[in-house]
Amino acid sequence: MDQFKIQGGRRLEGTVRISGAKNAALPAMAACLLTAETVRLHNIPHVRDIITMAKLLAHMRCNVGSPDIPPSEFTIQAQNISHIEAPYELVKTMRASILTLGPLVARFGYARVSLPGGCSIGARPVDLHIQALEKLGAKIAVDHGYVEARADRLRGTTIHFPKITVTGTENILTAAVLAEGETILENCALEPEIPDLAELLTKMGAKIEGAGTPMIRVQGVSELHGTTHTIIPDRIEAGTFLVAGAITGGELLLTSCEPGHLGAIIEKLRECGVWIKCEGNGTIRVKAVNKLVAADVATLEYPGFATDMQAQFMALATQAHGVSHIRETIFENRYLHASEMMRMGANISIDGNLASVTGPTPLSGAPVTASDLRASAGLVLAGLVANNTTWIDRVYHIDRGYEQIENKLRAVGASIERVSQA
Ligand code: UD1
Repeated sequence: MDQFKIQGGRRLEGTVRISGAKNAALPAMAACLLTAETVRLHNIPHVRDIITMAKLLAHMRCNVGSPDIPPSEFTIQAQNISHIEAPYELVKTMRASILTLGPLVARFGYARVSLPGGCSIGARPVDLHIQALEKLGAKIAVDHGYVEARADRLRGTTIHFPKITVTGTENILTAAVLAEGETILENCALEPEIPDLAELLTKMGAKIEGAGTPMIRVQGVSELHGTTHTIIPDRIEAGTFLVAGAITGGELLLTSCEPGHLGAIIEKLRECGVWIKCEGNGTIRVKAVNKLVAADVATLEYPGFATDMQAQFMALATQAHGVSHIRETIFENRYLHASEMMRMGANISIDGNLASVTGPTPLSGAPVTASDLRASAGLVLAGLVANNTTWIDRVYHIDRGYEQIENKLRAVGASIERVSQA
């Protein structure tokens, strides 16, 4: 298991290229199961979750190819699918494997996908995915930890999601495109990954209106075809580097990003005194010119402040003057990073889903353990400002979703290295 060794206190300066969005690439890869023709996907980040999804598709006998190493472009052809199953060994490492359920049952009339099970940031059930597929006419059985879905052909209907779910919306959208007749999805997630997926599906021949709004209307078609698509930039990676620039008192220029997807994050960081300028052509400059001040934030569905930026914001709040209140409204138990930050000297108290962070406090390097993907990003940011050395354990969590984070940080002046343990 690898660790990160971070020597804090360095000011970051330079340019960082933002990678493609993992959370857009995963449903796009699953959507390739909808056609026998080749789909070419560009701007795929080279992160562990993508490798897991590629393995899952290969397990089903898809042809998954890439012209470059590390791969940023994938060609996926799901022509000779023989194993219509997502096994536990792969699903347990990545919940998003559930995204194969909708496309598989829509195209093949059958799918067997392991239930993802618990997750360190709360229970995270998939009941809404299953209920919606049942409404589309699938017969669902849960047996030996697997969801089995069967349907001769899915039938369009109206589905109202009782709670907003990102992968739930994506899963059902990718099922409805091949259903017979019209499907209306209500109370859909608005995250930018949804219109990106709809754009890909439309290029494949799907008929979709309203993606990116609460109501999506789909006219089912009988067949989809191959296409080429470029994945949107990763808004969470961009947000993480904005905090990295601000927290280290540095100046970073982020390129290849989409400022339009970062509205709530940029607004909140500005409230904390961070100087941010969108300079056009997908670039954002961040500078620490003022002292950081406390701000309150509640995590919300898009276009609200992303729960995936909560741990990074908490790291920033430890360096801001005053008390910042953070309310986590999306996931239960998403404060595992707080106790690790406290071990580094942060002044944080937790009461249910409310965290109060009093700053600024000097952080001192300590051995800490990453508990999930975004928690690890928060700990890396804390390590960048801590004095002495911070050792972060279990960095496989960060490898799930950040492309070469240590190389990108080192290139702008951070002292961070990956230490491999035997
Ligand atoms: C996606 C993102 C994740 C992000 C999250 C919220 C991907 C691969 N992952 O996760 O990075 O943190 O959105 O922005 O895109 N819920 C149910 N039943 C369900 C589905 C969800 O109760 O069937 C609940 C969840 O437990 C959670 C809330 O709904 O409390 C939102 O979850 P959801 O939007 O589904 O998150 P994911 O799609 O898993």
